[in-house]
Amino acid sequence: MKCRKCGGRAVLELRRHNTAFCAGDFLDFFRHQTLETIRRWKMLSRDEPVLVAVSGGKDSLALWDVLLEAGYTTAGLYIDLGIFDYSRESKARCQAFAAGRDARLIVVSVAEEVGAGIPQVKDVTRRPTCSACGLSKRYIMNRAALDHGFGVVATGHNLDDEAATLLGSTLRWDESSLARQTPVLEVTHPKLARRIKPLFRLSERETAAYAFLRGIDYIVEECPFARGATSISHKEVLNRLEDVSPGSKASFLLGFLERARPRFQAGESVDLRECLRCGQTTTGEVCAFCKLADQVRRAAPRSAVPLGSAALEPTDPAPLRGLAADLSAASEIHAS
Ligand code: AMP
Ligand code: FES
Ligand code: ZN
Repeated sequence: MKCRKCGGRAVLELRRHNTAFCAGDFLDFFRHQTLETIRRWKMLSRDEPVLVAVSGGKDSLALWDVLLEAGYTTAGLYIDLGIFDYSRESKARCQAFAAGRDARLIVVSVAEEVGAGIPQVKDVTRRPTCSACGLSKRYIMNRAALDHGFGVVATGHNLDDEAATLLGSTLRWDESSLARQTPVLEVTHPKLARRIKPLFRLSERETAAYAFLRGIDYIVEECPFARGATSISHKEVLNRLEDVSPGSKASFLLGFLERARPRFQAGESVDLRECLRCGQTTTGEVCAFCKLADQVRRAAPRSAVPLGSAALEPTDPAPLRGLAADLSAASEIHAS
């Protein structure tokens, strides 16, 4: 197999593009795709500082690498979820990446913000772990961006992530999620940072190849709470489709974004205001994140959860009956 560009030995075949590349030309292809996506979708202007949310995985570190190389002003944001070895190792990967490039890394710990790490939060909320975790990540990303003067947060969501989310929302005909699924989540309130996904046209296999060829040391293990998640089975189904018909994932997602999403968007409007406690956006009076911190604090004496500063704030004694609804409202507002 020969490289389409230089005729040298190809290291990667991209069936959906009906092409193959050598290492150097693949890296150029990957950079070009990312930067073209940023330009075409008006994600970022050249001089706009961007906060890159890095998990220690291949996608977000590959994205940070491309943005740094292209000369964007960036900082990384690592959110320490407190998930045992998984968090320790992924944090170490982010720190090593940043140190190797003399880049700034901001670390925020969920335990300090909510009062406990995700494993303890999981026990007290009886919510699906990923729901409380996703809420915490989105909240912290937005707040860290505002606190540190960034108007934009970039995440490493790739084509496989986005197509799997779309398949899940379509199977449930979840109109709110469909309306909000976009690679550029524009600001609808002064307290929201723009959220962008510059890798959404690149597949997981392509980001893995980029990270490998660039010698990026990333964490391969998945979060232990992700085992058995429906998003994984959706990815498997899409991979089978892609095998028999290369390009299916991209046409499913891109076709939706171009032709179907505007129809769902038309019916969507949410009234956002500021949380009475923390000032971040919410559809109610107190945001879902503050309620989550309350819930953890209340459970602390029972479960001996170590408390952090946020959870020691005076809290509203109202029961948390609305938490489930708020969690889902918040995940809609800041749809992943
Ligand atoms: P995931 O939801 O784990 O597939 O992650 C999607 C994207 O969210 C990643 O590519 C990162 O940009 C971001 N992200 C996930 N986990 C973290 C974390 N612990 N800290 C910062 N960003 C994260
Ligand atoms: Fe959040 Fe696994 S990363 S539950
Ligand atoms: Zn709040």
